[in-house]
Amino acid sequence: MPETEEKKLPFDEKITVEKWKFVSPEEYKSKHKETIKESFWLSIASELDWFKKPQKAYEGKFPFLKWFPDGKINASYLCLDVQIKKGKKDKIALLWIGEDKKERTLTYNDFFKLVNSLSFAFKNRLGLKKGDIATIYMPMIPELPATMLALSRIGVIFSFVFSGFGSQALKDRIDDSGSKIIITADGFLRRGKKIYLQKNVESATSNSNIEKTVVFRRLGEGWLKDKKDIFADDLIKDVPSDVFVEPEEMNSYDPLFILYTSGTTGKPKGIVRDTGGYMTILWATVKWVFDIKDEDIFWCTADIGWITGHSYIVFGPMMVGATQVMYEGTPDYPHPGIWWEIIEKYKVSIFYTSPTAIRLLMKYPEENVEKYNLDSLRILHSVGEPINPEAWRWFFNKIGKRKCVAGSTWWMTETGGIIISHTPGWELIPMKPGTNGMPIPGVSVSVRRQDGSYAEPGEKGFLVIDNPFPGMPLTIWKDDRRYEETYWKRFEGVFYTGDFAVQDQDGYIWVLGRADEVIKTAGHRLGTYEIESALTGYEGVAESAVVGIEDKEKGEIPIAFVILKEGVSPSDTLKEKLKEQVRKVVGPIAVPKDIVFISKLPKTRSGKIMRRLLKAVFTEAKIGDITTLEDEASIEEIEKAYRELKKELGK
Ligand code: WTA
Repeated sequence: MPETEEKKLPFDEKITVEKWKFVSPEEYKSKHKETIKESFWLSIASELDWFKKPQKAYEGKFPFLKWFPDGKINASYLCLDVQIKKGKKDKIALLWIGEDKKERTLTYNDFFKLVNSLSFAFKNRLGLKKGDIATIYMPMIPELPATMLALSRIGVIFSFVFSGFGSQALKDRIDDSGSKIIITADGFLRRGKKIYLQKNVESATSNSNIEKTVVFRRLGEGWLKDKKDIFADDLIKDVPSDVFVEPEEMNSYDPLFILYTSGTTGKPKGIVRDTGGYMTILWATVKWVFDIKDEDIFWCTADIGWITGHSYIVFGPMMVGATQVMYEGTPDYPHPGIWWEIIEKYKVSIFYTSPTAIRLLMKYPEENVEKYNLDSLRILHSVGEPINPEAWRWFFNKIGKRKCVAGSTWWMTETGGIIISHTPGWELIPMKPGTNGMPIPGVSVSVRRQDGSYAEPGEKGFLVIDNPFPGMPLTIWKDDRRYEETYWKRFEGVFYTGDFAVQDQDGYIWVLGRADEVIKTAGHRLGTYEIESALTGYEGVAESAVVGIEDKEKGEIPIAFVILKEGVSPSDTLKEKLKEQVRKVVGPIAVPKDIVFISKLPKTRSGKIMRRLLKAVFTEAKIGDITTLEDEASIEEIEKAYRELKKELGK
């Protein structure tokens, strides 16, 4: 967010609504202070159904901490068996709506049966066992949460690759994780078009260690190429319908899943998630942030392929036995009122979505909203990127009718669960348009200057998490050093988030965007590395640099700067070919909006591309913003590069 806009943030506006009880920021802070201790998290953890209850909060060599080290637990057991024991057998777990309006309803018992059959088949027919790794590459169908729960039931670590990623991105993640099995589907519907996922799987696995591909049928158009492939329904066909698979007793610190995410440089990092700490932060945040009650209908619009879906569609809501809506389609297809139609029809009471979706939907004429009765709603939250005050106001006024709690929950793949938010299920502070609110109980955050000192209220700085928290990563898959350096060394001993933020005079946090080169486009987190590799992998391209440029709707969009090899001439056809290359290799979500041919990239003496400078010159931001941000470069270097770049782009 440019500096000028930051200054306009409504730090002083405080909004309350009649139906909810609010506390002052001071009251919140003083009660919050009491929660910053290990015993607090231990007492929260003891609310879960452990096979063996933990007596210790954490142990280990910092930052490689094991949370609740003496506890035994199983995530699938918490989401299914416990719900059934609590009498929720016939409660609806999932109301699924296909883009083609096909509907499916699954109770907790339906899930329990499906998950047990899948676990049985994975174990006995595919030979999967505790500690193995499986890749999931699936669209939004009910079999997806079932697959995740079936794998975690038998202690298999899964690595999910979002279905919007292309074949190379999928292959890189398969190779890095070392998984030998992939679970996928024939495809899915997107804006009326059939997307055949299996094609990507075929090209990603033709030269990999994958020994088996399991294919769910969503379109009914799947195929089996060789003996390595099997349809999921065939895999479970003869499994007795009442089969029961004993859930593995996992250590709290045993990995539940790996989720790859993008950072500043290099390949995506496999964030390794534990079981007990993760389930504890989900348990707590589902209560505090979403206040889910038995009668609520919860709808999180994220794709399960990202952390938001892992945490707040699958494990969080299911461990409290919630009823959820899941929609296969995009926000404005088949019509721009479809989401509001779904909320009316299923009486959704808690709604969790993204700023990009809100900004997209607010562009349509108001009658698309007004046609529908949204009275069932009581809590609205957004996630994934900063929400601008205007979008928040629309969400609060038009969707929430000025009677709902509306917030913007800040967190990241690395934290596993929500860290900064409004907490209607705990103590609720007044709302402010665009803020993230305050840290949840048990977690302390602060805004720091470059040198690690605390920023003043209103001063922009780097967001850090001050204390270890359940849900923190175990490590980066196969790279402990990178884990420690990336997150715990930038500011010694505290968790570096990679975000810019300000804290206002009342203590509210306002996250402004990434401080590194991660691009957040429509809430999707992309690294520059993968897109750049795709471009340089194309014949005729010598070098490239990708940056995120501000976009009114999507937050940011990628733009690529490309240097061509000698003798290759720039053309519009080449631009299109390069975009196609990115679509194929990384996926449709990563396609640059524009490709700019350039003769030289600005670099620091050590050879690092100054992406922020590219961004600034391209968008004509002030040079003053840049100098403090290019860690490795001197001011003269930056100014020289700036002048040269300006000349070239001005051509
Ligand atoms: C950004 C998504 C502002 C932030 C759960 C973070 C946000 C990155 C918000 C993590 C929010 C997420 N306000 N920014 N409410 N929520 N972000 O790993 O830059 O896909 O670092 O996790 O999203 O993205 P990730």
